[in-house]
Amino acid sequence: MTNPKGLDNGLTNYGDRDFARYLRRSFAKSMGYTGAALDKPIVGICTSESGFNNCHRHFPEMIEAVKRGVLAAGALPVTFPVISLAEVFLSPTSLVYRNLMAMAVEEMIRAQPMDAVVLMGGCDKTVPAMLMGAISADKPAAMVVAGPMITGRHRGERLGACTDCRRFWGSFRAGKVSADEIDQVEGRLAVTSGTCAVMGTASTMALMAETIGMMLPGSAAIPAVHADRLRNCEETGALAAQMALTGGPRPTEVITPAAIRNAQRVLLAVSGSTNAVIHMAAVAGRIGMKLDLDDFNLLSDETPVLVDLKPVGAGYMEDFHYAGGLEGVLREIAPQLETDTRSITGETLADRLARPLADPIDRSVIREAATPISPVGGLIALRGSLAPEGAILKRAAATEALLEHEGRAVVFTSLEDLAARIDDPDLDVTAEDILVLQNAGPKSASGMPEAGYLPIPKKLAQAGVKDMVRISDARMSGTAFGTIVLHVSPEASVGGPLSLVRNGDRIRLSAREKRIDLLVDVATLAHRRTETTGASYRPLRGYVRLYHEHVTSATEGCDFDFLEAME
Ligand code: FES
Repeated sequence: MTNPKGLDNGLTNYGDRDFARYLRRSFAKSMGYTGAALDKPIVGICTSESGFNNCHRHFPEMIEAVKRGVLAAGALPVTFPVISLAEVFLSPTSLVYRNLMAMAVEEMIRAQPMDAVVLMGGCDKTVPAMLMGAISADKPAAMVVAGPMITGRHRGERLGACTDCRRFWGSFRAGKVSADEIDQVEGRLAVTSGTCAVMGTASTMALMAETIGMMLPGSAAIPAVHADRLRNCEETGALAAQMALTGGPRPTEVITPAAIRNAQRVLLAVSGSTNAVIHMAAVAGRIGMKLDLDDFNLLSDETPVLVDLKPVGAGYMEDFHYAGGLEGVLREIAPQLETDTRSITGETLADRLARPLADPIDRSVIREAATPISPVGGLIALRGSLAPEGAILKRAAATEALLEHEGRAVVFTSLEDLAARIDDPDLDVTAEDILVLQNAGPKSASGMPEAGYLPIPKKLAQAGVKDMVRISDARMSGTAFGTIVLHVSPEASVGGPLSLVRNGDRIRLSAREKRIDLLVDVATLAHRRTETTGASYRPLRGYVRLYHEHVTSATEGCDFDFLEAME
């Protein structure tokens, strides 16, 4: 028997296939479909629209465009929802729910009758969640993203979420911006639908999705409100219909180890979000590939930073799009890319790069490889006695003078401790000290928040201190900046060396040597380990229990151990 198609996919089990088919068609007809429509291949449209997701508020219009493309190409579009993850509306963090969304995507693609699927994500965790789920379901899939917001204006300057959110908040904390002005700015930071306007996690993950071949070429950075965004949706719908008719390619045929290595190159060249290191480890894990931090450092040392965008540089995502977008970056690092990878269009990367450019690249935003912003990549992995399994530093966002630094630890044992004491005028802290936050990793009660961007203590901020070395097992928003060591593994709450740091310990950061070391002798650390007590966090029920029992480390991608590809 040939594989069932369209509505006949995965019939509900009543012990009678013909009855199941008849019943399914009958209920489908209750929605007004004709028999002719129900005989067509089906393209599922997996949408993560929600009233709690500002970034996806234009999805209804995008869905109409996807449907148009699917119908015109001879298939039947059927929309279905999965949970949505909007960065700022979730507690404790959106990362905790990324795997729940990935499970929903995987199971709903597998359980419902469709021949191909269009994945619609955008806000930070939604793109990796959809990619992870789609890989595991492994039905033909094509992705569209929300696209970045366009910028707002405030007193003559451009504003975009969320690097400017942090900049203004920092100035407010330092007493340089009034309460009235911060109120005014609040309404001017995020002024359209779409994802954050800088090279944050959402924009980085959109570029990752395009680089690994799961989106149409040139689509990652189209602004959310641009008509091209809708045209991209229509074209993706048409391609998905084609994929439904032909049965391929499947995500595991597109997302290969070479495609993931290419994406890592792009991540480094655009100086993308540190979160993408975690998400790409999880995506790789779904195809059975382990990402090695030492390999990542080799890529980083030979991949130049080419784009001048916030949070590190000057521009916004709309500038990047008009400057040439991902195409402009790929062409500059082409000699370092593995160009035999194939996208969902069937085209190889070599074919793509051989096509003439439609427009010249704007070199004020995307530099030539010969004149880069930095000759080495934006991110590096660190190892050392404080992070035996690794940590991440966005060197492109750091203060040059702090990249080689030894200082005295000022320790906060939790987010609550941080909130209670960071602005205490009596806090024993100087600008040369190193701020350490413990118990904010994936298995902590806080669920690995984007809290690695520890605030500069108020008294130092008011004295003009803009950056300090900060270390934690937390993450950092892709829109943030500073000399910040993140994702320290093993994390403190599973007994990693980070948990043994005490006030006054010396810590040494060396970006040159790619090391982060706790300068305390072994005997002292062994003694401290015997002293460590404290009730560990053990959620008793529900999804958070599943999360806590199965989440892997940041280095491994924070996926669930049972969702990674089987050997
Ligand atoms: Fe959705 Fe920033 S809040 S991308």
